[in-house]
Amino acid sequence: MKKICVIGSLNMDLVVKVDAMPKGGQTIIGSDFKEVPGGKGANQAVAMARLGGNVSMIGKVGNDGFGQTLIKALKNDNVDTKYIGIEDGPTGVALITVDNNAENSIVVAPGANFKVAVEDIDSDIEAILNSDIVVVQLETPLETIKYSLKKAKEAGKYTILNPAPAVVLEDAVIENVDLLTPNETELEILSGIQINNEDDIKRAAQIMIDKGVKELIVTLGSKGSLYINKEKTILKKAYKVEAIDTTAAGDSYTGALSVAFANNKDVVEAMDFASKVGALSVMKEGAQSSLPTLKDVESFRG
Ligand code: RIB
Repeated sequence: MKKICVIGSLNMDLVVKVDAMPKGGQTIIGSDFKEVPGGKGANQAVAMARLGGNVSMIGKVGNDGFGQTLIKALKNDNVDTKYIGIEDGPTGVALITVDNNAENSIVVAPGANFKVAVEDIDSDIEAILNSDIVVVQLETPLETIKYSLKKAKEAGKYTILNPAPAVVLEDAVIENVDLLTPNETELEILSGIQINNEDDIKRAAQIMIDKGVKELIVTLGSKGSLYINKEKTILKKAYKVEAIDTTAAGDSYTGALSVAFANNKDVVEAMDFASKVGALSVMKEGAQSSLPTLKDVESFRG
């Protein structure tokens, strides 16, 4: 099986359930406070490892209790943590509220995640060189992401960018991306095209392809996902499940795609596998606490 290197964030998620999201200036009473290991990078690495992937992660935590807990969580799931650095200062934290409709709102204080520097990529370059697939998101500094993708492409690796949380990206980042995995909102921000229907998605995707992306898999929530490259588009319907918390659903999807491609699955098989994983993840609360194992996926009847 091909090896995967994730370069990204680790956050401690501080989660509260609410009936409905508070309005500006409003104080509301929530319930069920929980601390749950999260961070888009770490969630994707854990998703891959639980699905049988061979995964190492480059990232940083602070020198506090949260940092220790997050590294321990990765180790428990067999993610190689050799390339996780410990910095003076706080670990990344995400303040998350989840409402009765399974929707969430997330504010991230990046802490040590914003200290992952270009120099760290140089000193941990063996993690990239020893992998076949390199996966990044957008919760670490953009300069570092740009450099990581460049180094990965120079070394002939297959690169995946999950562009979350989305920002407008310079072409020098996009040109080194093989697979882009945005949701519709992220694709709107990246392409500058307002998305109202499938044709808009295709136009927006074409803009990214013109900038150098080889292929996109756009996640459409309960509508499924859409594969687009220069020649073809493939729509995969979502599995219908009762969602209780959508936190990390996108992470589980990108993680599952990466493992499927590491196992040389074709696009249709990979999308089906990732759709099952995404469906299973929304049926449980939290980020890493919601990510399924390969056994869970195999016994899932959608
Ligand atoms: O994608 C979900 C993740 O976003 C959470 O775990 C939180 O830490 C933020 O990074």
